[in-house]
Amino acid sequence: MKTVLKVFGGLVFLLVVAAGGAFAWGKSTAAGKLAAKVETHRVDFPIPFPLTEAELAELKAQQPEAAEAELKKVALERAIARGKHLVDARYACSECHGKNFGGGVMVDAPPIGKILGVNLTSGKGGQIANYQPADWDRIVRHGVLPDGRPAAMPSLDFVAMTDRELSDIVAYLLSVPPVDAEIARPTLGPVGTMLIATGKLPLSANVITEHQAPHRIEPPAAAETTEFGKHLVGVCTGCHGADLSGGPVPGGDPSWPPALNLTPHADGLAGWSYEDFVRALKEGKRKNGAELRVPMSAMKAYAANITQTELKAMWAYLQTAPARPSPK
Ligand code: HEC
Ligand code: HEC
Repeated sequence: MKTVLKVFGGLVFLLVVAAGGAFAWGKSTAAGKLAAKVETHRVDFPIPFPLTEAELAELKAQQPEAAEAELKKVALERAIARGKHLVDARYACSECHGKNFGGGVMVDAPPIGKILGVNLTSGKGGQIANYQPADWDRIVRHGVLPDGRPAAMPSLDFVAMTDRELSDIVAYLLSVPPVDAEIARPTLGPVGTMLIATGKLPLSANVITEHQAPHRIEPPAAAETTEFGKHLVGVCTGCHGADLSGGPVPGGDPSWPPALNLTPHADGLAGWSYEDFVRALKEGKRKNGAELRVPMSAMKAYAANITQTELKAMWAYLQTAPARPSPK
């Protein structure tokens, strides 16, 4: 009896030591990953973008006397309007940074951690006062903080954003009412620490392999083309996969269902009409009427603002994507 107890006690002791050891390993490995500086290029672009030749010609035809200052004002107003559309319809910054951009929640689950989206306004506690275009590029398209450390923000979804789109978003953010809010930096719980250490919760800065290649300056023209559609679908690939065949959402909440197959395969959208596709995005319903769950259900709020041209372009592109079975 005694021997059994001793053996059992010894085992428990060993397990505790092993778990403690693993956690100590996890803690130092996660800390190492979070402190390792990531090198990127430093790009520059105007904020706002100047008017295009075509816009200038049109304005000059309407107001031949328009002064330089007037044209600059129009350029800024148009950039702000484009930026508002981009964040209302296509790039979900407010999902984590709050509807008023004064801060929001990405993850608030104690074992994983508390990961908040910081204040993006010019109010007290706002993080962007000293941001240069290069800093915007680094955080949004590379997942790298101004001091070079990898951010907890999933920037993988934004790598295909063009300079003009990023500039428009910045012009819009600089125009929103300032919010005074001090938002805590991300803190990790034991599960979050182990997820980062083991690479189960990948940091975008480490997943994005290309930190030096130039970004595209202008997005494709907004038209019902597969080229524009491909660009728009870029924000879906973070969850639906680079080949759009679906599967578990990388770095997603373990309770989420896998992302579904968006290719024209029998496992995917074969047999879907354009109307079925629009209903999935705008009403959050599958072809068979079943409700789409979180996180796809969050798309409804954005899809309400997507233009018909954008929907038609996405649909045109999805039909040309190579058909692939869903991952097993
Ligand atoms: C899924 C959640 C999420 C989305 C979507 C998101 N962010 Fe973030 N963002 C975060 C988190 C979390 C941080 C804090 C990162 C850290 O400190 O490691 C952050 C940090 C930032 C920072 C500040 C970094 C600093 O200097 O403190 C900026 C700027 C930013 N995000 C801009 C954006 C923009 C612009 C968009 C939309 C194009 C966006 N974010 C979309 C979660 C998100
Ligand atoms: C944050 C992750 C995420 C993003 C981003 C995302 N999706 Fe989804 N999507 C999902 C998940 C998860 C499901 C499955 C939901 C379920 O089973 O209830 C899904 C389901 C769908 C479906 C339903 C397919 C079917 O067979 O019923 C369509 C259509 C769809 N997504 C289109 C898109 C498009 C288009 C985009 C980009 C504009 C997009 N999704 C972006 C995660 C995402």
